[in-house]
Amino acid sequence: MNNNINIGVLVSGSGSNFQSIIDQSEKGNLDAVIKVVISNNPDAYALERAKKHNISAIFIDHNDFNDRQQFDQKMIDILKSYEVELVIMAGFMRVLTPLFIKAFPMKIMNIHPAILPSFQGIHAQERAFDYGVKFSGCTVHFADEGVDTGPIIIQSVIPAYDDDTADTLQQRILKEEHRIFPQAIQFYAEGKLEIVGRKVRIKNHKKIDEAPLHNPPLDKF
Ligand code: GAR
Repeated sequence: MNNNINIGVLVSGSGSNFQSIIDQSEKGNLDAVIKVVISNNPDAYALERAKKHNISAIFIDHNDFNDRQQFDQKMIDILKSYEVELVIMAGFMRVLTPLFIKAFPMKIMNIHPAILPSFQGIHAQERAFDYGVKFSGCTVHFADEGVDTGPIIIQSVIPAYDDDTADTLQQRILKEEHRIFPQAIQFYAEGKLEIVGRKVRIKNHKKIDEAPLHNPPLDKF
């Protein structure tokens, strides 16, 4: 039996990833307690989700601060006051300063809607679609001082079909985000993540079968 870890969630928008974490937590599938959610956007639907589930929800307007560091310091103060051990960036659309990263070293997880290191930054799904990729997907990684550059914990790959639109591709990626983010948190809570250099090893995990994927499927070879 594991002790629950305290998590704090950063959001800017709809919060469907946040919802997936709430749902798994309420089902008893996560050894984690959501202590607080912070949004930099007053209209983020994620704040409503928090209220519905009696989770402390705090809006901080980044425009009220002189610089990024002061805004980040405010978030650090709140997260520390809730004794947060792991910070979850669930669609948080601001780059964290080194100050914040150093306050939670390898204790910040981000979800990104692409197979990193491809398509770092914003509008990743749309850029992957426009590029004509045959596979896309999503990545959960630890945040470091770069943009979407930290050690990778888990990735999910999905095919891009000829009849996809940017929107249908994005929706299918999002469904997978909702699966891998709770899993990454649970790996962490179980103490299974070991960071070696920039690699994350999962203790005692099964090796997946070697099954190359082709899109389109190979016809002849
Ligand atoms: C998700 O697709 C997430 O991967 C993406 O924002 C969306 C938030 O959706 N994050 C980024 O692009 C970060 N660079 P949600 O608010 O419904 O969870």
